[in-house]
Amino acid sequence: MIRTSLLKASPLYLHHNAAAFRLTRTSCLAAACRRTITSSSAQTTIKEATPVLPRSSSDDTASKPGLTTPDAVSTLPTMVRGDWVLFHPVYSPDELRAVEVLHQRANTWSDKIAYGLVKFARATFDFVSGYKHPTVPPSPDMTVAQLRKAGYLLDDRAWLTRILVLESIAGVPGMVAATLRHLTSLRLMRRDSGWIHTCLEEAENERMHLMTFMTLRKPSIILRAIVLAAQGVFYNLFFFSYLISPRICHRFVGYLEEEAVVTYTRCIADLEAGRIPEWSNKPAPEISIDYWRLPPDAKLLDVLYAVRSDETTHRFVNHSLANLNPDTDVNPFALREPDMHTKGKKIAFDRTEAEAYISESHALLGKKIAPPPDEQSR
Ligand SMILES: [Fe+2]
Ligand SMILES: [Fe+2]
Repeated sequence: MIRTSLLKASPLYLHHNAAAFRLTRTSCLAAACRRTITSSSAQTTIKEATPVLPRSSSDDTASKPGLTTPDAVSTLPTMVRGDWVLFHPVYSPDELRAVEVLHQRANTWSDKIAYGLVKFARATFDFVSGYKHPTVPPSPDMTVAQLRKAGYLLDDRAWLTRILVLESIAGVPGMVAATLRHLTSLRLMRRDSGWIHTCLEEAENERMHLMTFMTLRKPSIILRAIVLAAQGVFYNLFFFSYLISPRICHRFVGYLEEEAVVTYTRCIADLEAGRIPEWSNKPAPEISIDYWRLPPDAKLLDVLYAVRSDETTHRFVNHSLANLNPDTDVNPFALREPDMHTKGKKIAFDRTEAEAYISESHALLGKKIAPPPDEQSR
């Protein structure tokens, strides 16, 4: 039923409505709907919606090369600003703090396998990197230096190593899923039901996390070698796993994202408690100010909150997709996404909720794109 209702939509309806909806958060739904009437109006509004951010005095476009830069990450040309990426949410302050650490209960044997694999990967990574993850520190009297030496706290460099490795891996599943679904659509000559874009958006979002944190630490040759090896193994494993069971793969990513939310929650708590003094009042990297539309004086702490909210979105989306039939069901997030007050406090939509959400989206679209009464009477 869900699939039928999506297929009824014309290509123009789907393409432009999806683009317009996903440029904004749910709270901007009404405005987004106005962008869906024609191709030209949509494009105009997209341009208008791109905020012109204040530039710092160090921004000197003329002094930077335009086409080629030796380090494209840290020398992002200032003329490349605005909507140069796929849809991603821009969060309000209360949304950023609406995130809760949640867990999807593993009910089926496949859920248990997915959860077990994630727990095993996390434990192995913690062991290899010498990180202990206790709920309570061994002694309240230990100083930051002592806790770091004993492996209970990470310093800024260790946090960045951990984040760079994790983000380089986290960008893989969305791209694999999108690639395989894209090829399936071509091969079987049938619509994809809206999953490809969401998977691509996730992959790009994770890559932007990596690009952001890359500006804070130059990875060593050893770290690059670890990432290369991990990517080589993980990409192929995930590729073949997704061929066998997309549902288990989305559940696996859902559990992986649960761990990401835990990791960034821990990082934020440490920073706010003064346990990462190197990052106190550290300014947000320029690329992150542009990407998340942060204020010009944003701090690294604001970036961590935004990244954690992104991971929460991935958690919610993947656990929800894992509750659906990947061959026949429409992606409920193809047209819009709930805001963080839902995604941060609810682990996933079950299948009934997903169907209700799609129906609600279609009702909203139908209301907004209906021609005015005077045109109807002609
Ligand atoms: Fe990430
Ligand atoms: Fe993620």
